[in-house]
Amino acid sequence: MRVKLRNVYVAYSGSRKPTIKDITLTLDRGVYVITGPNGAGKTTLLETIIGLLKPYRGEAYLLGVNTKSRRIFRARRKCSYVPQDFMKPPTEAYTGMDVIRLGLVFNRGSLNDAIELAKRLNALDLLEKPFGKLSGGQQQKIMILRALARNPEILLLDEPFSSLDAETKENLCEILKEYSDRLVVIVCHDTSIVKRSADHIVRMEEGRVVDIS
Ligand SMILES: Nc1ncnc2c1ncn2[C@@H]1O[C@H](COP(=O)(O)OP(=O)(O)O)[C@@H](O)[C@H]1O
Ligand SMILES: [Mg+2]
Repeated sequence: MRVKLRNVYVAYSGSRKPTIKDITLTLDRGVYVITGPNGAGKTTLLETIIGLLKPYRGEAYLLGVNTKSRRIFRARRKCSYVPQDFMKPPTEAYTGMDVIRLGLVFNRGSLNDAIELAKRLNALDLLEKPFGKLSGGQQQKIMILRALARNPEILLLDEPFSSLDAETKENLCEILKEYSDRLVVIVCHDTSIVKRSADHIVRMEEGRVVDIS
């Protein structure tokens, strides 16, 4: 199992109440869409899966490694995570291509893959432009390209469609379908967009998983 959560509770520091509660999940392959209202704990769950947040109760394993173990850093290199609000690189001097190249350090991905994917997402012209001067949607495309080009065993995307235009959404859905022999976990509050590429829908409410279909 690539991801295994057993009765996991996670709280943010300073909070006495858990943000996610008693979550038990095993995910191995296919495209999973996590959905639910704002504040349901979707982002918190994703960051628990990748091991950025640690459970105070229960256990979380990523690629067989307990997320509290030091070996988690190595396991995480085999994964790609595009956060909901990604950080801008510190200087405008980075082009889109530089941002992708940085993502491939320590990784088995290839720039050629990135270029092929960029063609399919209508993003070829963005590769030479300064990342800092791109629009939100264009930056989102570059971050997704970078995540895909890393050829990850697990791909985690938090609201990847939020600033993409309709055509790019469609193309991305097509691409994601091709990753169904890996594990893809997409947080998306609007499941109508991803319905075609989703193998499973995980519904969250108030910090709990209330339905998996
Ligand atoms: N860094 C944080 N510190 C404290 N509380 C947080 C933090 N991030 C999120 N929360 C709270 O945790 C709850 C779940 O947030 P989140 O996982 O981001 O939900 P979703 O992604 O489903 O909208 C919300 O009530 C939110 O206010
Ligand atoms: Mg969120």
